Amino acid sequence: MPIKPHFGVNERGHLTIGGRDAVEMAERFGTPLYVVDEQRIRENYRRFYGAFAQRWHSVMVCYAYKANSNLAICKILQSEGAGAEVSSGCELQIASRVGVPGQRIIFNGNNKSAAELEAAVANDVLINVDSVQELLSVRRTASRLGRRARVGFRVNPDVKTPTHSYIATGLRESKFGLDAASGQALEAYRMASDMEELEVVGIHCHIGSQILDAAPFEEEAEKLMALVAQLKEELDVDISLVDLGGGLGIPYKPDEKELPPEQLASRIVPIIERAVEEHHLIRPALAFEPGRYIVADAGVLLVRVGYCKARPGMPGWVAVDAGMNALIRPALYGAYHHIEVANKVGMEPRELVNIAGPLCESGDFLGKERRLPPVEAGDLIAVFDVGAYGLAMSSQHTAQPRPAMVLVNSGKAEIVRLREGYDDITRLDRMPEWLK
Ligand code: LLP
Repeated sequence: MPIKPHFGVNERGHLTIGGRDAVEMAERFGTPLYVVDEQRIRENYRRFYGAFAQRWHSVMVCYAYKANSNLAICKILQSEGAGAEVSSGCELQIASRVGVPGQRIIFNGNNKSAAELEAAVANDVLINVDSVQELLSVRRTASRLGRRARVGFRVNPDVKTPTHSYIATGLRESKFGLDAASGQALEAYRMASDMEELEVVGIHCHIGSQILDAAPFEEEAEKLMALVAQLKEELDVDISLVDLGGGLGIPYKPDEKELPPEQLASRIVPIIERAVEEHHLIRPALAFEPGRYIVADAGVLLVRVGYCKARPGMPGWVAVDAGMNALIRPALYGAYHHIEVANKVGMEPRELVNIAGPLCESGDFLGKERRLPPVEAGDLIAVFDVGAYGLAMSSQHTAQPRPAMVLVNSGKAEIVRLREGYDDITRLDRMPEWLK
């Protein structure tokens, strides 16, 4: 059976997603192909939101656009009532385009440009300021536009997270935020609270990504609330939005266990509650910025087998029509993505193989040492849990056009991202006069 319960298998032994046969979709839309299940995204969002909303009076879940900023996917989440966590001017524009009001958009990042800040202030977006220099820049922008900017600070709480070092962001040495322990963050709040162009609204932190353990989130909540109490006591600043960032992981490996959002909520919310009572704080709204949890397991990448190469005494190589260009996570983080043969689901896994993309790099693989049914040229390979940071991080390395993406929903299937063609790759190139 397929690894996750929202996938199925039909009478032909083909993988199904959103009520559609993966093999038929690959024939109709071509490969490599991303397929994303709308219902699964909705379920994930509702489960996450519900877990916290059941335990706290005011919760805003801002979907992290960086995970997958396709317009249709952002629209699905907007229609569920999600806010948007954006980290670039374009993501901000996408959020506005799909109808997310500025009041439900949170803008993060450690190097926001003047133009990006202007768009944020003009749209009443909450800006999580990352440095004192940025604070001054926000003030200038607000004053030029004659508006009050809504701000919070990204705080660095020095929390260790059990994840890949590239995606751990809450450690003191990380580039993000203002240090909590040394008083740097407090000082920044002091400055901001004296600036009449600014409305100090929030506090923000994001400790890292793909975390399946509640303990670091608890430590984050404790440390943030300690700072919120200090802000009240020393500066008489009320924080009305506590934004705990994203980071909830998903099980990628068959033997990995999920951290249910209900469990996370039941560990985090009492910490907030206790701090509010103990320090006589206003009851803040809670914000979260999940990306991966919402979309990762809704997506699958379908790739076609071109050639198979047996090797004596070693796993054979199966070459498919996309690799690190379409999905860079295995190459970049050594990430595991579960793999099955989409036209042979349920057949006995008998061979040990490596799955390689078509690029000229040894890091160009989608999986190593996987036990699969006998694989032949023409088979369709499904790579699971690619809805987050898949297409979003794809490239045109070796001038490979990016894959298309299809959205499925209870038997319906429609393209939501066109396949790139050769012309798209050279479209922005120009020939200087002297080479013509
Ligand atoms: N908020 C902030 C400020 C972030 O930096 C991130 C992710 C999120 C929210 C969403 O985190 P999530 O819930 O998705 O874990 N490319 C990497 C992940 C990088 C995450 C960066 N920040 C990967 O493929 O694993």
